[in-house]
Order: sequence, then structure tokens, then C-alpha cells
Amino acid sequence: QNAWKLADHPKLPKGKTIAMVVLDGWGEARPDEYNCIHVADTPTMDSFKTTAPEKWRLIKAHGSAVGLPSEDDMGNSEVGHNALGAGRIFAQGAKLVDSALASGKIYGGEGFKYIKQSFDNGTLHLIGLLSDGGVHSRLDQLQLLLKGAAEQGAKRIRVHFLTDGRDVLDGSSVGFLETLEKDMSNLREKGVDAQIASGGGRMYVTMDRYENDWNVVKRGWDAQVLGEAPYKFRNAVEAVKKLREEPKANDQYLPPFVIVDESGNPVGPIKDGDAVVTFNFRADRMTMLAKALEYADFDKFDRVRVPKIYYAGMLQYDGELKLPSQYLVSPPEIERTSGEYLVHNGVRTFACSETVKFGHVTFFWNGNRSGCFNEKMEEYVEIPSDVGITFNVQPKMKALEIAEKARDAILSGKFDQIRVNLPNGDMVGHTGDIEATVVACKAADEAVKTIIDAIEQVGGIYVITADHGNAEDMVKRDKSGEPQLDKSGKLQILTSHTLKPVPIAIGGPGLKAGTRFRNDVPTGGLANVAATVMNLHGFIAPDDYEPTLIEVVDN
Ligand code: 3PG
Ligand code: CO
Repeated sequence: QNAWKLADHPKLPKGKTIAMVVLDGWGEARPDEYNCIHVADTPTMDSFKTTAPEKWRLIKAHGSAVGLPSEDDMGNSEVGHNALGAGRIFAQGAKLVDSALASGKIYGGEGFKYIKQSFDNGTLHLIGLLSDGGVHSRLDQLQLLLKGAAEQGAKRIRVHFLTDGRDVLDGSSVGFLETLEKDMSNLREKGVDAQIASGGGRMYVTMDRYENDWNVVKRGWDAQVLGEAPYKFRNAVEAVKKLREEPKANDQYLPPFVIVDESGNPVGPIKDGDAVVTFNFRADRMTMLAKALEYADFDKFDRVRVPKIYYAGMLQYDGELKLPSQYLVSPPEIERTSGEYLVHNGVRTFACSETVKFGHVTFFWNGNRSGCFNEKMEEYVEIPSDVGITFNVQPKMKALEIAEKARDAILSGKFDQIRVNLPNGDMVGHTGDIEATVVACKAADEAVKTIIDAIEQVGGIYVITADHGNAEDMVKRDKSGEPQLDKSGKLQILTSHTLKPVPIAIGGPGLKAGTRFRNDVPTGGLANVAATVMNLHGFIAPDDYEPTLIEVVDN
């Protein structure tokens, strides 16, 4: 009990209403025509920087600052919200899987022993995202796992892949697939019956999140488990090339297909006695499939046939649900998050976003844990996202609705912290549609205005930041920062996140005079925000938290 008690901040009072706003995919980059935040009309976000520079700064949101393997790793929402909420930097899934593979420890673990039971008479199926994006999975990890599984005795292997185009350039799927094909053929030369069995685009097949649209998972189930899909091909590279020829086709949204043998039968449906590994390390877009694969009671769609399998995740995706129960690598243990501390110290919290980002300000924020810490102190509100569209056709998304919910929560006086995620810059940025992303950024800026106006009314404080970059750069660039053209002279659109830092601004009438950013934490990153917010609630953060970004000078 007492271990949760936070010390009082010597200078900052308790009881202020604090709006904690995360703009998803909102980084700081050079102001040119491919910087949608620069192009968009964003007076509110601009004003923080120009009118109160001592209360505005940039913080790191990528690479080691958020627990990723290298400085070449762009930030993402999982690691970003983990860092924001936890106040410390944890070695993340990508890194943990790297070391488990490098040391070989992965093969000695419970999870691997479990799936190994299929090796004598069954097939090992690997399902996941095929790219080197490093956000949900990595191709080189899949390659090592394939090699290792064969060495450990897997005799029949099937890969069910999802094309990316969201964390990597659109069209890069073909190259990744060719690499995979080569590995599969090497395995075959060594006597392993290894084949690619099915495929589809990540946003249309399998990788939905937060139960936005179960049809996405069903399409994958039909192809992967039942061996049924609208398209059948003899070869996976051919399949992707062919399907990409359709007008408007792209890697993210390729339809599902299965690979068939010479008699037209699917080469890799999942059967009794087989093993399945979902090789993504990131949770949000694998949890739904994990439920379909693991739960006996399941009513989200008709599974038709439920094979008795040995299923393991690359990681355990949900520590609270213990899902999946078997996994190859232990997930980071993100405990004692700021949310849990604050609840124990009397801070009442309201968290809100729309479905596609809802888990970011709840599940990820709380260290990959679903649900509230204390239902009497917390209220989590999810606004249903539009389903079945790409967000460039609806770039305003639910920004206004989220802002209004936040405003009402602020004015209600029932909460001390009102936490929201505004998805626009990220979700529309991922479509690669520059015009729509400009509209998206304006909508997010307007939402911020609504929220800070409410804070103004109640004498509160706002903290506005972002989880990683996206909308501030929409083209692939060369080393000097100039847009890079492809072989045919076309601009290469960047659908992914970036390596850019993100802004953080504090303000509002409740902010004690003399509060400003310290200048002795120049390398501050997202993990420094939790201690900062704890200070603003009137507390000092636990010793092992990354240092606060603020100081209070007497004037
Ligand atoms: C996605 O899952 O949509 C992308 O791979 C990463 O986006 P996010 O990290 O912003 O959710
Ligand atoms: Co994103």
C-alpha cells in the first residue's frame, strides 16, 4: 500500500485539472511542401512554440529513447505510449526477440517446447507481417526462426504472410517475399517441406486492432486455417505481383489468397496436431487472431473448423488476459506505470480516443494491460471508429467527438487527468494521401483548441505532446534531406512513421508561475513525460523514473 505513496512536490500544488493530449504521428521536421503539419493551418499548435518558447520543446520519440534496438528504428505508438505512461525505458519486443534469437534461448523456452510437440507428425505454421519495418515484426527475425525451427526438427513448415506497405514503402512487399522464397527453397534443399501457404494485405487481412472490424480477422482465418480465399495462386511472388496490378491496389490492402498445389488444393490449411506461431512481437494487431486461435468459447465470427493446435505467440500479447498462454519470448515487464501510481494517490482519470487508437491511451499507456486499475477512479471512453474505409476519405476522423468528450470531462469536475489520443496525423498519414493528411492535421489542431479552451475555463493545465512522427514528412528522402525519386522519376511517398522528435507544450491558467522546461535534460524523450505530469499533479515521481522535464523558478 505505502509503496504506492508519492512524495509531495515542494512547489507544485495538487488538485489541478490536467489535460494530457497525445497527437498521434505529429513530429517536427523541416517546413516544406511534404510536411503536412507545416502546410496545414494549425494556429493552436503553432502558438505554443511562438508565444511561450520556455514552455515548448522537442523530445525524442524513436530508437533507444523508447527501447528500440537502434537509432535507425522509427518510433511507433506502442513503444511511444508505453514510454509516456511508464516513465521509464524498457527494452521492447523487437529487442527482446533479437536477443532470444541471438543467444538461442528462444529454443529452450517453454513456448518452443510446446510447439515442438507438433514436429513429428504435424506442420509448423508461421503467421505474421512480412517486412523489415520493425514495428510489429521483422523479416530477419522470421528468417532466423525458420532456420532455427528446422534445426530443431520441424519437418513441415508453412508461412502465412501479410504484406506491409505501412511501416515500409508501398511495393516493397515483393522484395521481402523474394527473400522469404529463397529461404524456403534453401530449407527444401535441406529436406524440409517448407512452403508459403497464404497471404493478404495487413489492413484487409488479419491485422485489425481493438476489435474495430472482425471481418478482417475472419478473412485471414478463412485463408490460413480453412485454406479458402477468393484468389488462388501457385506461387506467392506471382500472386502479389498480379494482385498489385489492380488499379488502386497497394500492399496494405491486398485481398486474401491461398497457394495451391498442381491439383488446385491449398498447400497449407491448419489442421489438428499442427503448431501455429504468430511471429509479430507487437500486441495490438495480433490479439484478435490470438483469441480466435486460442479461445474455446468464441462468437466473433464463425470459425467453421477449429483445429486442435499448439499455438504460441512470439510474445505474450496481453499480460492481464494471459493471451496467448504460450509464447516464445517473455514480453517486457512494464509495471508501476504512472497511471497506477496516480490512481493510488487519488488522481481521478478519464481516458478517451476512437477505436483505432483507444488501446493506445489505455492498454499501451498502462504497460500493455487491459482495463482500469480502479473503476471507481477511472473512466475509459471509446468512440467507435468508422469501419471499412481508409481514413483519407474521412480525415477528420472522430477528432471533434474526442475533443468534446474531453471538454465535457474537464468541465464536469469529476476528473483530475483527462487523457486523449488524437489519431488524425498518424492514421491519415499512413494512407500516403498528402492532401487528406493536411486536412487531418488541421482537424487535430482544432481538437487541441477545444480542449485547451475547456482547461482555460476550469483554471487547469494542459500538456500537449505526440507519440512519434508521421504527418510531418510524407516523402522518402536522401541523405541530404531532399525528396528521393524512384527509377521512373516518381516521388516516393512515405506512409510510415519517421525518426523525428516530437513537440511537447505545457500551459494553462493552473500552471504555477515560474514553471518552465529545464535546460539540463537536452536528451529528454517520451519517457520523461510521466515524471513531468506527476509533478503537475503535485507529486514527485519515483526515483527510478526518467527525470522530469520541468522546474519551477521563483520570481
Ligand atoms: C499500425 O499498426 O497502424 C502501424 O504499423 C503503426 O502505427 P502506430 O504505431 O501509430 O499504431
Ligand atoms: Co502509426
